[in-house]
Amino acid sequence: MAEYPFLRMRRLRRTENLRRLVRETRLSADSFVYPLFVAHGSGLRQEIPSMPGVCRFSPDTAGVEAEEIARLGIPAVLLFGLPARKDDAGSEAYDADGIVQRAIRAIKRAVPELLVITDVCLCEFTSHGHCGVLAGGEVDNDRTLELLARSALSHAQAGADMVAPSAMMDGQISAIRSHLDASGFTDTPVMAYAAKHASAFYGPFRDAAGSTPQFGDRRGYQMDPANAREALREVEQDIAEGADIVMVKPALAYLDVIARVKANFDYPVAAYNVSGEYSLIKAAAQNGWIDERRAILEVLTAIKRAGADIIITYHAKDATRWLQGA
Ligand code: PBG
Repeated sequence: MAEYPFLRMRRLRRTENLRRLVRETRLSADSFVYPLFVAHGSGLRQEIPSMPGVCRFSPDTAGVEAEEIARLGIPAVLLFGLPARKDDAGSEAYDADGIVQRAIRAIKRAVPELLVITDVCLCEFTSHGHCGVLAGGEVDNDRTLELLARSALSHAQAGADMVAPSAMMDGQISAIRSHLDASGFTDTPVMAYAAKHASAFYGPFRDAAGSTPQFGDRRGYQMDPANAREALREVEQDIAEGADIVMVKPALAYLDVIARVKANFDYPVAAYNVSGEYSLIKAAAQNGWIDERRAILEVLTAIKRAGADIIITYHAKDATRWLQGA
């Protein structure tokens, strides 16, 4: 092997064109999924205070927003709903006229080719804010499965192209897969939030979606941030149950988990660059403490470099414009 002074690593770094030739990771809008928050009403485009630049939409304005997202070249959106009413069983989650189902129809009407992926969980819809139904003050795994399966089916029936269960209930992927298959939706892919950790970085999202638990926390069902081997077992389990895509969440504090999942499984890997990760950069940028554009492109590149094929990110629209040189 050549050594300094014959070998000089800097030779290939001198100009931008040299760097372009040897660049190992290329970011593109092809990998992006843009999350959308939808609420009842019309004409709504309300900025979320803890997530500058991210808005809540009503179904009509979500359609307009979807047109812009598609025009930019982003292939997919991920929907989260704010219901009209919350109850113990999260009924609006599986109501054919629920907010998510309405938004799916409005977006598919506006831009049929844009992929609509839906988050499948009960936390936005339950009065207690937990991801499933309760029994004796705890989330009842097995009774929750049927409600998640009904939610996923109602999304598919409304026109969703893919469902993404995020409740972290054991058996949720097979419950959803078999319910979809039995109802004729054999071609609707499931993107499993497989390794979803109990993270402090979901804070701004819970403001946005109104899904903060009213008591306790989610550590009884979401993963311990300390565990990476367990993340591989979660992924293995979800693949065995029929997941088509596996997700690691959050992304930035879990790059090692993304890399390990990628190395161990030949499945498409998604990473969720979550709300808190977004807001940290936005807050620093607003204070003039960081170069926003460079920081965002750097973290998205890092998520890709770690092994993510798909990046779910609130930065998707800005990053796409920057990548296109705008
Ligand atoms: C619903 C869900 C959450 C997120 C995605 N789906 C919140 C949670 O688990 O508390 C977080 C997304 C984000 O922070 O951007 N279960």
